[in-house]
Amino acid sequence: MKHAERCVAVPLTGKPNPEITVPHEHSLGEFPPATALERHAMKNPLQSLIYPYSKSEFFAHYEDNAPLVIHDLGESIRELTALPFLESLETLLAFWPNKVDAYLPGIADEDNSIAITTAEAPTHFENGRGLLFNDINTLSPVLKKWLEALTYELGLSSLTYARNLVYATPAGKGTAPHFDQNINFVLQMHGTKKWWVAPNQHVEGPMSRHTIGLPIDPELGSYTEGAMPEQFPENAAEFVLQPGSLLFVPRGAWHKTEALTDALSLNFTLSAPTWIDLVTAALRGRLAQSSEWRETANFVTDTERVHEAVEKLDALLSDLAQDIPNWNAADILGATEAGQLPFE
Ligand SMILES: [Fe+2]
Repeated sequence: MKHAERCVAVPLTGKPNPEITVPHEHSLGEFPPATALERHAMKNPLQSLIYPYSKSEFFAHYEDNAPLVIHDLGESIRELTALPFLESLETLLAFWPNKVDAYLPGIADEDNSIAITTAEAPTHFENGRGLLFNDINTLSPVLKKWLEALTYELGLSSLTYARNLVYATPAGKGTAPHFDQNINFVLQMHGTKKWWVAPNQHVEGPMSRHTIGLPIDPELGSYTEGAMPEQFPENAAEFVLQPGSLLFVPRGAWHKTEALTDALSLNFTLSAPTWIDLVTAALRGRLAQSSEWRETANFVTDTERVHEAVEKLDALLSDLAQDIPNWNAADILGATEAGQLPFE
C-alpha cells in the first residue's frame, strides 16, 4: 500500500467539517435587546431547551435512552418562538419557497407522503393531512446557528447531519407508530399534541427508521432480533405537549403522536454518526491515498476472470490487515473531527 506507516489525519471525502459557530448576538432591529437568559440561550442551546434541568440531568436521560419532557419554556427559547415564519401555519406557508410533504391516506408516515406546493397545502391540511417541512434551517440563519451549537454542545461528531423539521398536524391526526435513527428534540410551537414514547426492545442502535406496517429496510432487518411488532408497545409513556413544551425523543425509541388541536412543532433532528460511520469514513480517507485501492473493481462478475479479482482483493486486504494494528482512536477522530477535538 502506498502510504505512510500510521493512520494519519487525511482529508475525508465525506461531508466537509462545518465550522462551529456559537450564536452570540441578536441582529439589531429584529427583537428588543437580549436579556441575560437569552444571551445565555444563544451560547447554550441545549441548556436553553432543557431549562431548568442541568446538562448532567439531561445526559442521564440521553445515555439511558429515556425521554425527557420539559414544559413552559419561555424566555430561554424566545429567539425560536419569535421567528416570524413560525407564527402560524399561514406565515410558514407564505415563507417557505419549497415543496411540502403531505401525508397520504392510510399509514400516517413520511414514507407514505407526496410532495405538494405550498399553494396546495391548505387544502390538504383541511382534509386532515399532516404536513412536513424538511430542512427549514436551510433558510433560517437563526435555526442554523442553534443546530450547529446544539450539535457541538451535545459533543456529537462534526459529521453529524443536523436539520430542522416542522410538522403541521390537523386536530385528531398524528404519526403512525415508528422509530427513527435520529436524536430528536421536539419543540411544540402551537396547539396541543399528545406523544407516546416506548423503549425499543426489538433493536438496539437502529441505523434506519421503521414504521409499523411498512416494509423493513433490508439492512435493519439483517440485525434485528426477530420480526418487528405489529402493534405499538404497551409500556409507553404519555406526554401532552403544549406551546413551550420540549420533548427529547431518544434515538431508536418507539413513538406515535396525535394532535389534540391543530398543532405546529419544530424538530431539531440530529443524525449522528455511529462508530461504524466514523471508522468507515476514516478508512475511506485512508484507502483513498492508495492508487491500488482506487482502481476500478474489475471482473468481479466476470466468470472467466473473477479469479483475478479475488486475487487482487485478497492482496489489498492482506495489506490492510498489516496496517490496521497501527490505527488508534485519536488518529481516527483526528481525521473525522478535524479542528474540533478537545485534546488537539
Ligand atoms: Fe419520528
